[in-house]
Amino acid sequence: MHPLPEPLAISPRRSAGQRRTGVASRVGSAVPPPRATARSALDLWVLPVDLAAPGWDVESAAALLSDAEQRRAAQGVPSVQRVRILMRAALRSLLGDILGLDPAAVPLTGAPGKPRLEGPAARRGVDASCSTSGDVGMVTAVRGGRVGVDVERIRGEDLWGAAAEGWLAAGERAALARLPIAERPRAVARAWTQKEAILKGEGVGLAADPASTVTPVADRGRVRQWWVCPLAVPESHVASLAIAPAGWGVRLRATPPMVLRAMSAPLGFSA
Ligand SMILES: CC(C)(COP(=O)(O)OP(=O)(O)OC[C@H]1O[C@@H](n2cnc3c(N)ncnc32)[C@H](O)[C@@H]1OP(=O)(O)O)[C@@H](O)C(=O)NCCC(=O)NCCS
Repeated sequence: MHPLPEPLAISPRRSAGQRRTGVASRVGSAVPPPRATARSALDLWVLPVDLAAPGWDVESAAALLSDAEQRRAAQGVPSVQRVRILMRAALRSLLGDILGLDPAAVPLTGAPGKPRLEGPAARRGVDASCSTSGDVGMVTAVRGGRVGVDVERIRGEDLWGAAAEGWLAAGERAALARLPIAERPRAVARAWTQKEAILKGEGVGLAADPASTVTPVADRGRVRQWWVCPLAVPESHVASLAIAPAGWGVRLRATPPMVLRAMSAPLGFSA
């Protein structure tokens, strides 16, 4: 079995930021998720995609895409084409394994926009999301709920620069300002990924105002009906997962070993 990233922050451990600032209750709720029970649990799959790994078989991956997906991929410059092909193929492969379908036969639509299943597959209760930043890709799926994921490279953005862009709520700005200066760039990037993960989970993306999604200013917590937590990625990046409904437990399912059988590269970072 391929290793999953050591990740996945579905434990109720509190973050250093929460302990230090005690701000979580003012900017979002830090309620830990309950343990999974048979009655109230989501199944979660997380598939990291190391886009820098040598040996990706892009041609085989492209063969898994629909005509519309291939046309869309072809619109970008070569590096964009490659990423779009590999990520869409990874998404199709994961969904195919979950649904018991050939990846090329997964009835996937939605691009541009949130990936959506059509027909009978749409009634199987599976939701998916994906994100890339540089060479770091992440594909996630849940059964029984909704999911959004976002990855960003940490650009070292200063809090006041981010504040000027208008996407932070007042409570988030205040909580971030209480953090040590050295910790702020990561915390700012994390807040952005949490907002984007939630908005992607809701299917609206940045058409909605990110400032009205108020994050915990901690690496995990509850926002509306969403539970947000980090995913393991290289230090240069931050990745957040949003899953709903937040009150439910989460069962982490192993990514099927055959998931990328049409591609020859290994499955990404093993933290
Ligand atoms: C969703 C969105 C935030 C993507 O942001 P990004 O950081 O550039 O890209 P990511 O790699 O993290 O995510 C891209 C994936 O998100 C998904 N996605 C795109 N729009 C989505 C939406 N509205 N809801 C949920 N998921 C969406 C797609 O799977 C996409 O992958 P694809 O391009 O291969 O199909 C952005 O495309 C968006 O919100 N678009 C709609 C609003 C808009 O056009 N705003 C103007 C831009 S500021």
